[in-house]
Amino acid sequence: MNRRYRKTIIAGNWKMNKTATETKKFAEELKTMLPKAKWCEVVVCVPAVNISTAIRAFKDMRVSIGAENVFYERSGAYTGEVSADMLKDLGVKYVIIGHSERRQYFGETDVTVNKKVLAALEAGLHPIICVGESLEQREMGITMELIALQVKAALADVPAEKARKCVIAYEPIWAIGTGKTATAEQANEVCNAIRATIRHLYGARVARSVTIQYGGSMNPGNAAELLAQPDVDGGLIGGASLKPDQFTAIVNAANQE
Ligand code: PGA
Repeated sequence: MNRRYRKTIIAGNWKMNKTATETKKFAEELKTMLPKAKWCEVVVCVPAVNISTAIRAFKDMRVSIGAENVFYERSGAYTGEVSADMLKDLGVKYVIIGHSERRQYFGETDVTVNKKVLAALEAGLHPIICVGESLEQREMGITMELIALQVKAALADVPAEKARKCVIAYEPIWAIGTGKTATAEQANEVCNAIRATIRHLYGARVARSVTIQYGGSMNPGNAAELLAQPDVDGGLIGGASLKPDQFTAIVNAANQE
């Protein structure tokens, strides 16, 4: 973390978990334990159908609501899709774009990720852009090139003043939901390389202001060490974000002096 130049953001990614009723219950429980976030912004990204419930349930808490996906067209005949304007109008602040599960199961590519980033920014949302390598790609030694390519593709045609509004989440695919976490050094090495790519694209001022999260089996046991790394500015948390006590423990780790 480097709080002088950029925001620390702890974001939960609920994936396809929790009903609206369970969302309310989670918010009530979290309310009793979540500290006043001194240093970090807390975000909960929920399934689209639960957004309205979440906006209401978390209203009195300092918790921002995020979506897990968005479509890139503004409106029209796209049955089942949700536009950036629809999310914005509900009070959504962040939207996860290009999560590896969407790339793997729903055919998202660097091209669609870029279109979604542009649409989200146009609507005034903050994209949380996910990038990450598979185990095979890491073993082939192409992690850095691959991540640089994903970042460049996601940010194509994004001007500097809008790039500042983006969050990048480094999520090694082999660490997601597996209980296998990247070491703090591995996480920092790639987050640092992402910052170098942003510097190359937009210059040093933008690069140092962009929040770069780590995601992949972050939990109360490893959060403090990961967040202590200079280029790791927060976490995108799946499994551990579903339990109010574990999520709170990670927020507490980010709130350490
Ligand atoms: P995990 O998921 O924390 O359960 O590994 C992270 C993510 O997919 O964003």
